[in-house]
Amino acid sequence: MDRILIRGGAPLRGTIPIAGSKNAGLPLMAASLLTEEPLVLGNLPHLADIVSMANLLAQHGVSLGMEAETGNGRGELGRGHTLTLQAGRIASTEAPYDLVRKMRASVLVLGPLLARCGIARVSLPGGCAIGARPVDLHLKALEQMGADITIAGGYVEATVPGQLRGAEITFPFVSVGATENILMAATLADGESVLINTAREPEIVDLARCLTAMGADIEGAGTDRIVVRGKRSLHGASHQVIADRIETGTYVMAAAITGGDVTLTHSSLALLPGLSKVLGKAGIALTESEAGIRVQGRRLGERPTLSGVDVMTEPFPGFPTDLQAQMMALMCIADGAAMITETIFENRFMHVPELCRLGANITVHGASALIRGVPKLTGAPVMATDLRASVSLVLAGLAAEGETTINRVYHLDRGYERLEAKLSACGATIERLGS
Ligand code: UD1
Repeated sequence: MDRILIRGGAPLRGTIPIAGSKNAGLPLMAASLLTEEPLVLGNLPHLADIVSMANLLAQHGVSLGMEAETGNGRGELGRGHTLTLQAGRIASTEAPYDLVRKMRASVLVLGPLLARCGIARVSLPGGCAIGARPVDLHLKALEQMGADITIAGGYVEATVPGQLRGAEITFPFVSVGATENILMAATLADGESVLINTAREPEIVDLARCLTAMGADIEGAGTDRIVVRGKRSLHGASHQVIADRIETGTYVMAAAITGGDVTLTHSSLALLPGLSKVLGKAGIALTESEAGIRVQGRRLGERPTLSGVDVMTEPFPGFPTDLQAQMMALMCIADGAAMITETIFENRFMHVPELCRLGANITVHGASALIRGVPKLTGAPVMATDLRASVSLVLAGLAAEGETTINRVYHLDRGYERLEAKLSACGATIERLGS
């Protein structure tokens, strides 16, 4: 199994191009099931999760063609991919356990399959490292749209006599995936659907934009109330995937934790409302211009120092749970204490013991972690546990004195394209070691 070796201490300096969003790309790929015509998605990142979704769709009968984009002026590090997906005929309406267990977002094929074929059998994604993560909201909403759903042998078996019908659905709490699944299903339902308490993430807006280009009638994406008037069919379209705001935020923290000066291109701070304010309080300057987002961090020992700030994760536009671990790594070397509260997932502090191995002082009380800043971290072998936890260890390793090796880096490959190359280009000493 590959490991990553980091020799910490160098401030990052340079430019990093931000890739297209993984979390926008996955539902967009699933949306190809809604039409027999080709859907062309540009600016997709090349990541293990995207490959998993492609494999799942291929087994549903979707034909796929991927091409590396050239001539977009971003150079090797920022090269996106264009994927053409065509679900001319659905060969199978079953999403098997072996493919679904690798990635929870596989459940996003359920809504589109049911809407187009009236039948779907999708493996339950099962538990995962960051909590139970059930799909009850997805299933309940589909039932409200007329689906018959049973759970048997670890599979969701859904059928609908005739067509799904529009319904008024109030989600009991905000779920990104449930909003996406039901939004897609509603585009082919009979009549109007009113979705209430929907997620407002930029990835939802991007999905709605693409569905609209495919002929769907959608109003209100980006707010907590979305109205969809169902159509008999959708058609092909071409769509550019938005920038990855979590990759953006991660490199913001990487520059900040090393006291560096980095410009991030092909992204926008509008995707991360509130981040400049939070980091401003910590003493990190974030500015945005034509050239990109510039992050200027404080060097260790520099006055005024990096300050501790309290953060609570919330659905968009609040602080993203997917940046919680990275923020915690940053707070490990702040002057003073910081409290980080996780309100989205019940078990998302697995990075804490690993950060402590690097010398951090963190105590967890329920959903909150109290981080008392230490003057410096020191390198050590650590183990990645999930995607965002692993990248927080990379950030801590970049700031730590000495060598850090991170095991189980396949987690990183699920969500960070060319991580080592992007960081090396800014002066980091980081390399991948084979097993
Ligand atoms: C998406 C993101 C993930 C991010 C999360 C929250 C993708 C591919 N993944 O995940 O990176 O961390 O949003 O921003 O976009 N829940 C239920 N029942 C349900 C659905 C969700 O109880 O039917 C719970 C979950 O366990 C979790 C919370 O609701 O506690 C929010 O989850 P949700 O927004 O659905 O996350 P995902 O869409 O899985």
